[in-house]
Amino acid sequence: MIYSDEPFNGKTILITGGAGFIGSNLAFYFQRHYPDAKIVVLDLFRNNETFDNGNLKSFGHFKNLLGFTGEILCADLNDPTLWERLRGYGFDYIFHQAAISDTTMYDQTIMLQTNLNTFKYFIDLALERNIPLVYASSGATYGDAEAPQTVGREAPQNVYGFSKLMMDHLTRDTLKRYPDAKIVGLRYFNVYGPREFYKNKTASMVLQLGHQILAGKTPKLFTGSDTIRRDFIYIDDVIQANIKAANPRQSGIYNVGTGNARSFQEIADILQEQLGTDYGTDYIDNPYIGSYQFLTEADIAPSIEGLGYTPQVTLEEGIRRYLPEIKHLFQTEVKR
Ligand SMILES: NC(=O)c1ccc[n+]([C@@H]2O[C@H](COP(=O)([O-])OP(=O)(O)OC[C@H]3O[C@@H](n4cnc5c(N)ncnc54)[C@H](O)[C@@H]3O)[C@@H](O)[C@H]2O)c1
Repeated sequence: MIYSDEPFNGKTILITGGAGFIGSNLAFYFQRHYPDAKIVVLDLFRNNETFDNGNLKSFGHFKNLLGFTGEILCADLNDPTLWERLRGYGFDYIFHQAAISDTTMYDQTIMLQTNLNTFKYFIDLALERNIPLVYASSGATYGDAEAPQTVGREAPQNVYGFSKLMMDHLTRDTLKRYPDAKIVGLRYFNVYGPREFYKNKTASMVLQLGHQILAGKTPKLFTGSDTIRRDFIYIDDVIQANIKAANPRQSGIYNVGTGNARSFQEIADILQEQLGTDYGTDYIDNPYIGSYQFLTEADIAPSIEGLGYTPQVTLEEGIRRYLPEIKHLFQTEVKR
């Protein structure tokens, strides 16, 4: 679906984090709908390095880009020589998705250097060329702030959420000095959909529960999961938000959710219904009680107003669209 009249054909588009979940979906969106655009994907991809929590340092995977015909620049955001190289491309748009996306990575130095410090260069690049910059902020900026979560009332509970909040502050400060700049931060809530498999344990519960059920197991949830509700947003709506944010009615920071929280229990139940199983639920104690978000629900009124963004995919519909991929992954990647 074409989400805007923006003339992307013939333009040079940078997608950072393009080997990751959201970035690769964005790359394919442009490739499919704007065959004359030049798409450049920048990503560190993965190697065998891990953080202290045992998770990979970067989740980019070439398999997310099978079929992609644009240019790939394998590079580290933290490489100080990167910026001169990027200047040479003459980009017309920047979609900045690259980041340490793992909310359980607690090394504050590396998180802030990678997510926040390098963001300044993208702002400078966008200002220098007078081009739109759309970047990934996060619902994690809200931490335990009350629902509905609204821009301006943040309370991050981890350094990941803090890094994104400080990116947003940098944006606000820039927009004060350059009010005509087109810079939009998108606070995604819980995104799910194709090409998230290579995020391993940090992939959505939709995928993880789907694979448990396909393995013939009773889905495992925390006790009380019918009362733990999140704003789950399907990847297609996240792409819609990015495309619309490239030509915003008003620059700024916006939530990207459905505005309608659903429970983890509902995810398991919808999956079972659509897969035709009836395994019930296996409840386990929630070890995070005390530091756990029980309700996230995005206030999306400003996003509708400022971006023209309207979420179109319900949880039932998102799972229906996603299931063929969940099954395919189960056959080709999980069962092997
Ligand atoms: N998926 C969600 O639910 C969600 C929610 C809120 C915000 N976000 C944000 O959206 C963006 C995309 O998230 P995602 O879910 O696609 O995660 P992802 O981990 O799949 O994508 C991030 C990409 O950035 C790359 N990367 C990491 N460090 C890098 C570095 N130093 N240099 C270059 N590339 C590097 C990774 O290899 C990866 O491909 C991230 O900024 C994330 O913080 C995601």
